[in-house]
Amino acid sequence: MDIQPISILVIDGDAASRNYLTHMLHKSSFTVLSVALGREGLISAWKDLPDIIILDPVLPDLAGLELVTRLRQDRRTAKVPCIALSSRRDSSDMNALLSAGCNDYMAKSSQALPRLLELIPRLLRGESTAAKKRGMLVAFLSAKGGTGTSSLCANIAMCLGSEKIEARVAVMDLVLPIGSIADIVGYTDRLNLLTVMMQNPAETTSDFFKDNLPRVPSWYFHLLAGSTDPDSAGQLDANRLEGILNSIMESHDYILVDIGRTLSRISMPIIQMADVVVLIVGTDLSTAVLTRTVWEYLKTQGIDPRRLYTLQNRSVGLEGLSKTELEQMTGLQIRLTLPYMSGNFTLANNRHEPVVTKFPYDSSSFTLKQAAIQIAELGQQSRG
Ligand SMILES: Nc1ncnc2c1ncn2[C@@H]1O[C@H](COP(=O)(O)OP(=O)(O)O)[C@@H](O)[C@H]1O
Ligand SMILES: [Mg+2]
Repeated sequence: MDIQPISILVIDGDAASRNYLTHMLHKSSFTVLSVALGREGLISAWKDLPDIIILDPVLPDLAGLELVTRLRQDRRTAKVPCIALSSRRDSSDMNALLSAGCNDYMAKSSQALPRLLELIPRLLRGESTAAKKRGMLVAFLSAKGGTGTSSLCANIAMCLGSEKIEARVAVMDLVLPIGSIADIVGYTDRLNLLTVMMQNPAETTSDFFKDNLPRVPSWYFHLLAGSTDPDSAGQLDANRLEGILNSIMESHDYILVDIGRTLSRISMPIIQMADVVVLIVGTDLSTAVLTRTVWEYLKTQGIDPRRLYTLQNRSVGLEGLSKTELEQMTGLQIRLTLPYMSGNFTLANNRHEPVVTKFPYDSSSFTLKQAAIQIAELGQQSRG
C-alpha cells in the first residue's frame, strides 16, 4: 500500500527556528514546505493544500491573527489544523488566536518539538486539543521580601475559592529556595513542587493534578506547595516547570502563583503568561524605589499595564508613604490598600487560619474579598 506522507507548512519569519523545525519535521518523515512571510504562507496553503499548518504569529508582513482568520475564511483551508508556535507568551494573543480558529498554541522552547510530534497525529484524527479550557493565571510578586506577598496570595486565593464555590482554585508556591504558603495554611503532606518535578513528565498530566493536588481544609483551594529543600531548588528546570503549570492551568479554573520577589528565568515566563500580575507594594521608601525599578523592567519585558493589579499592603505599621505618595513615586495606580493589622495577620498565619475566617468583621477581611473579586474581573477583561 502506498502511504502518502503527511505534509506540513511552516510559516515562520525567523530563519533559525524555521530551518530547525523544517529539518526536524523532515527527519520525522513529514513532507515540509516552509516560508518566511505570511503572504507566501497563504499562497502556499491555498495552492499546496498542506495537512497541517504551523505558524509563528509574529510575522514580518502579516499579523498572525489576520493570517489565521484568512485561512479559516477560505474553504480550501477552513478545516486544516493550525498550530501557533510563538516566541512570545502572551495570554491575550493566545486567546485571540484560539478564538480565530487556531487549534493550538505553544511557546517556542525545547519542549515544543516533542509536543508538536505528539499533537500532529491527534489533530489529524480530528481531536480537539487546545479546546481544553485554560484557567486564569494570576502571578503574585513584590519588589521586596516581607511585603506580605505570600500571605496575600494565600488569603486572596481563599477568598476567591469561597466566593466562587463551583470553581477550582489552585495555589502554586514558586518561591525559591523555600516556599512559605504551606506554613501559612498548615499543609504538611509530602507532595510538593520538588516531588512533582521528580515524577515522569508523562505522569504529571492535567488529570493527575485534577485528582491529586491536595485540597487544603478550610482554605478553599488546592495547593502545590513550594520547595522544602534549598539544595534541590537550584536544579529546577524551567521547561519542566512550564509543563507542570500548563497541566494545572488545564485542571483548574484559577491558578494563583506566589513568585515572591525574584525575577528570573524561572519566574519571567510565568509573569509574561499571566492574565493578571498582582504587584504587592509596601509603604516604605525603599520598597517604593525598588517597585519602580521592577515595574520599569517588567514593561521592557512586554507586560501590559492593563494586566497589572497593584495592591498596597501596610504590613509594617501605620507610618510610611500614603497611597498618593506611593502612586507618585512608582507611577502606578494603586487599586486597593490593605490596612495594617498589627499582630493579627501574623496571628492568623501562625494558626494557619484565613484572615477572613479569623477576623470576619475586620476591614481587612472586606479588602481581601474585594481584591479577589477585582482580580478575577481584571483577568476576565484581559482574556477578552
Ligand atoms: N497588613 C498587614 N498587617 C500586619 N501584618 C502583616 C500584614 N501583611 C503581612 N503581614 C505580616 O508580614 C509578615 C511577612 O509576610 P509574608 O507574606 O511572609 O511576606 P512576603 O511573602 O512578601 O515575604 C508576616 O508575618 C505577615 O503576617
Ligand atoms: Mg513570601
